[in-house]
Amino acid sequence: MPKVAVLLGSLRRPGMGFGIASWLTPLVRQSFQTARTSTPDASSVDVVLVDPTQPPLPLGPIVDGSHVPADIRDPTKHPNPAVREWAMFVTSCSGFIILCPEYNKSYPGELKNTFDHLYWEWARKPVMVVAYGGGGGARVEEALRGMLGGPFKMQVADKGVGIKWPRGTDKVPPEGPAPKWLQAYEPEVLAAVEELNGLILKNKA
Ligand SMILES: Cc1cc2nc3c(=O)[nH]c(=O)nc-3n(C[C@H](O)[C@H](O)[C@H](O)COP(=O)(O)O)c2cc1C
Repeated sequence: MPKVAVLLGSLRRPGMGFGIASWLTPLVRQSFQTARTSTPDASSVDVVLVDPTQPPLPLGPIVDGSHVPADIRDPTKHPNPAVREWAMFVTSCSGFIILCPEYNKSYPGELKNTFDHLYWEWARKPVMVVAYGGGGGARVEEALRGMLGGPFKMQVADKGVGIKWPRGTDKVPPEGPAPKWLQAYEPEVLAAVEELNGLILKNKA
């Protein structure tokens, strides 16, 4: 069964990200099911949320100067056990959804580290961006697209989602029904997952 990982860019707790992730993950699962009902022979998709505070993440800064990640083609050959575990997980995934807050018009450093520890593992993997922020996340989406489709050579879905909340909004609780302003993004998520699904199926063929 193909696996798709939802990678959360924020480690903050309490933060907006964990609540949005708990709304997004089951919605993505359901959206893949909907997208695949019209695709004969397509198996269902295992959608997993990666908690960036749980091992092997966060990986922290790159301090090992013995090599650059692009030197390592085989994910089982990374010298650091945590990086190796992460490399094997990334290799096992068929696609990714990056759920990322905007910090000073870009992405959090920890998310960049999560990418920088690896190189070949990301190449050609389909990916979709869900950005969020007090201002809507348009700048972080642009920055992410440049990173994912540029040095990491991922296949980035044209459709993305940019989430903005009304001023003074409380953090999204990780349990219970999502607030109405967040539910309003469901059609956009569905459309973007449909495109991601197409990229994954094409990659497999
Ligand atoms: C360090 C930092 C920088 C931020 N910079 C921006 C920004 O450039 N644009 C924006 O719309 N919101 C910005 N914000 C507001 C965040 O988008 C908002 O706090 C959001 O809840 C962060 O997601 P998180 O709680 O999941 O970490 C910033 C927040 C932090 C903590």
